[in-house]
Amino acid sequence: MHFTPTLSLIAAALAASSVASPTRRQSPSDPVVFQTPEFSAPVDGTIMSAGQSTALEIGSAEWNHCHPGYTPLGLYMLASEPDNSSLNSTYQFGEYLYFFGNFLFTNDQGLPPMSTPPPPTTLTMPDLGAQYVGQKVYLASIETIFGCPPNGYTEYVWDWVQMYYTD
Ligand SMILES: *[C@@H]1O[C@H](CO)[C@@H](O)[C@H](O)[C@H]1NC(C)=O
Ligand SMILES: *[C@@H]1O[C@H](CO)[C@@H](O)[C@H](O)[C@H]1NC(C)=O
Repeated sequence: MHFTPTLSLIAAALAASSVASPTRRQSPSDPVVFQTPEFSAPVDGTIMSAGQSTALEIGSAEWNHCHPGYTPLGLYMLASEPDNSSLNSTYQFGEYLYFFGNFLFTNDQGLPPMSTPPPPTTLTMPDLGAQYVGQKVYLASIETIFGCPPNGYTEYVWDWVQMYYTD
C-alpha cells in the first residue's frame, strides 16, 4: 500500500510547527533518517501466536524538537532486524511480513481530526504462516516528522521490537 501524505496534512503540520525553536542540528538539505527508542510496549522478547493481542504503546518521535502538529506512523512486522537500509526511497519498509497500516499522531490538543486514524492501543499478532513458528520477528515503526527547524527539513525516525512468533 502506498502512503501519500495529503497536502492539507503537510500544510497543517507545517502551520503548527515552531519556527522559533533553537536549532539542535545544522540545517540539513536532505531528510535525516535515524533510529530512536519509541516502543514502551510490547517489550523485546514478547512471545505471541497468531490472533493473540497485547498492549501497544508507541511515542511520537522528536515532537519537542520539530513541533509538528501531526506525526504520520507506519507499522510493520518484519522478518529481519531493520537498519537504515531497510527503508526504501519513499521511507517505507520495502520488505515486510505484515503491514498493520498507516496511523497519525495528533501532537497538539485542539487540532482538527484527520481521516487517518490514531495508532491502535493493542496489537494483534497476524498469521505469519507455519514457516515463522519459533522464529524471531520484528515489529517496526517509521515516523515522519515534517517541518523541522530552521528550514523545514523532514526527519524519518524508525524503531523496532524483537518478538517471537509461536503456535
Ligand atoms: C542511520 O543514518 C543516520 C544518518 O542519517 C546515522 O546517523 C545513523 O547512525 C544511521 N544508523 C544506522 C543504524 O546505521
Ligand atoms: C516502498 O515500500 C512500500 C511498502 O512498504 C511500497 O508500497 C512502495 O512502493 C515502496 N517504494 C518504492 C519506491 O519502491
